Amino acid sequence: MPTILIIGASRGLGLEFVRQYAAEGWRVLATVRNIAQGRAVSEAGAEVYICDIADLASVQRLAADLAQTGLDIVLHSAGIYGERQQFGAVDPDEFLRVMRIDALAPLKVAEALADRLCGARIFAAVSSNMGSVSDNTSGGSYAYRAAKAALNMVIKGLAVDLAPRGILTVALSPGWVRTDMGGPDAPLEPPEAVAGMRKVLAGLTPETSGCLMHYDGRRLDW
Ligand SMILES: NC(=O)c1ccc[n+]([C@@H]2O[C@H](COP(=O)([O-])OP(=O)(O)OC[C@H]3O[C@@H](n4cnc5c(N)ncnc54)[C@H](OP(=O)(O)O)[C@@H]3O)[C@@H](O)[C@H]2O)c1
Repeated sequence: MPTILIIGASRGLGLEFVRQYAAEGWRVLATVRNIAQGRAVSEAGAEVYICDIADLASVQRLAADLAQTGLDIVLHSAGIYGERQQFGAVDPDEFLRVMRIDALAPLKVAEALADRLCGARIFAAVSSNMGSVSDNTSGGSYAYRAAKAALNMVIKGLAVDLAPRGILTVALSPGWVRTDMGGPDAPLEPPEAVAGMRKVLAGLTPETSGCLMHYDGRRLDW
């Protein structure tokens, strides 16, 4: 039975990933920030672990908890949008908080867990087309855009560094999805976005490793 670890599964896309992989018969391990959030995740079919990716010691504890567990996919879904990031009002501390959660944390998760993956295995992170430089025609969202662009570079770097171990990586663009982050006007529901991203993961090859892939299977430009 293949095993997936989903980081950030309390709600939104992470929780939908739990539902779909569990329904397909995978062993699903999933993290939440506090145990009160664990019930829904456990009911969706996952074994629940605690991890706050803002706290690197918490990431290390998760790695220690999983020291004896082999993983086929580590899927980092956790992320924040952030506040006060329009031109003229960018808050420096908030900018750095978003960079830390959306760009640095996935890298530290990969460092902590790479040894749990080996041989044609996958490290994936949910990024965004808002991290595509060429796709930025509307400006604004400085922290979120910069952090997802940095995440895309992290994923590319991991593809290079982890290739000798047979690990593939990918930055996933879910589209605009109706979650707490995406808001009520988003055109996509989580089941459709997640089904598309699962298909991308299933079809990942050394040629597409390190790329930014849209949920509909298109490779996006940087
Ligand atoms: N929805 C969209 O339209 C959209 C579009 C492009 C990209 N994305 C990306 O998709 C991913 C999932 O977003 P979503 O739409 O599912 O958002 P969401 O509903 O707001 O969920 C965000 C998830 O991230 C977790 N998280 C936030 N900070 C964390 C931390 N410090 N440690 C551990 N977990 C943390 C949250 O946990 P708590 O419940 O504990 O806060 C929650 O599970 C994000 O990376 C986001 O940038 C979303």
